[in-house]
Amino acid sequence: SKKLSSTVQEAPLISDVAYELADIDWDSLGFALMPTDFMYIMKCSHGQTFSKGELQRYGNIELSPSAGVLNYGQGLFEGLKAYRKQDGNILLFRPEENALRMRMGAERMCMPSPTIEQFVDAVTATVLANKRWVMCNFILVPPPGKGSLYIRPLLMGSGAVLGLAPAPEYTFLIYVSPVGNYFKEGIAPIHLMIDTEVHRATPGGTGGVKTIGNYASVLKAQTAAKAKGFTDVLYLDCVHKKYLEEVSSCNVFVVKGNVISTPSIKGTILPGITRKSIIDVARSQGFQVEERLVAVDELLDADEVFCSGTAVVISPVGSITYHGERISYRNGGIGVVSQQLYSALTRLQMGLTEDKMDWLLEL
Ligand code: COI
Repeated sequence: SKKLSSTVQEAPLISDVAYELADIDWDSLGFALMPTDFMYIMKCSHGQTFSKGELQRYGNIELSPSAGVLNYGQGLFEGLKAYRKQDGNILLFRPEENALRMRMGAERMCMPSPTIEQFVDAVTATVLANKRWVMCNFILVPPPGKGSLYIRPLLMGSGAVLGLAPAPEYTFLIYVSPVGNYFKEGIAPIHLMIDTEVHRATPGGTGGVKTIGNYASVLKAQTAAKAKGFTDVLYLDCVHKKYLEEVSSCNVFVVKGNVISTPSIKGTILPGITRKSIIDVARSQGFQVEERLVAVDELLDADEVFCSGTAVVISPVGSITYHGERISYRNGGIGVVSQQLYSALTRLQMGLTEDKMDWLLEL
């Protein structure tokens, strides 16, 4: 793993709280906001570059009612996790990938963005300022495998606009929250339905960047699916209505024998960092991985399906319902391939196996 750059210092203001034990019930923790101690804020004007940010006490922020992000959705977010290692150090998983993805998204959304170094330094400073939420002196929390610190960087048009235009000012903000499992099922298989009416993204649109609007636009389909007892929705492409795209909050993989297939990145699919990592991990374990168009029909004779994401990690799929017909996998149990990849990925993220790909940043 890489070591922390020496330019990042812990802010002096954190010393009063940083070593108090955070009281977290890791067994009942799901994926909900638990406010922490500090957030990071950095601003810049349109046409300028970000230069200097700072840690502040976590709390509400002030925004103009006509901020670009509030009125026209000029905003992006990222998600990454910090794990604690058994020796107590903190590990970040591929933070420069999130930085790069934010830069690509910012270009699409007409926003300035922090450099990769600024992004990674800001994430590092925010995690260190909130480190009691990842671990504490001598008493280490969470217990291995139970939780992590979710890091949520935001980039938004915070300046005032009235007519449609890029905002005159931008804010980059990072907050963190300890989290457990994303789905209420935990690591038990989830149940998806394919919504044949609603599409998540269109060619030429913004489906391939992590803009906030992509997530608001699936809430209706997601809510309807939940009301019918499903965990979430699997979306199809909007042109042929035939190829798998992704689930509301995660990418999707289909397993058949030794071949693992996932929809290729073609502008309508979010380029997940967990997705990309799973592809490499699976190949290193001898699987054949194909990034291609995956037709909905292939779900019928797949052995296993699983979802991937930073928040979701790897979530096995127990069933998918399409046109009212339910296709079940592994008798509703956890698939062997999903289990194997989940364990390989999380062991790597927690520093339990050798970091051969140099994916970890150790704080
Ligand atoms: C993540 O997995 O980090 C995401 O950004 C998805 C979000 C809906 C929780």
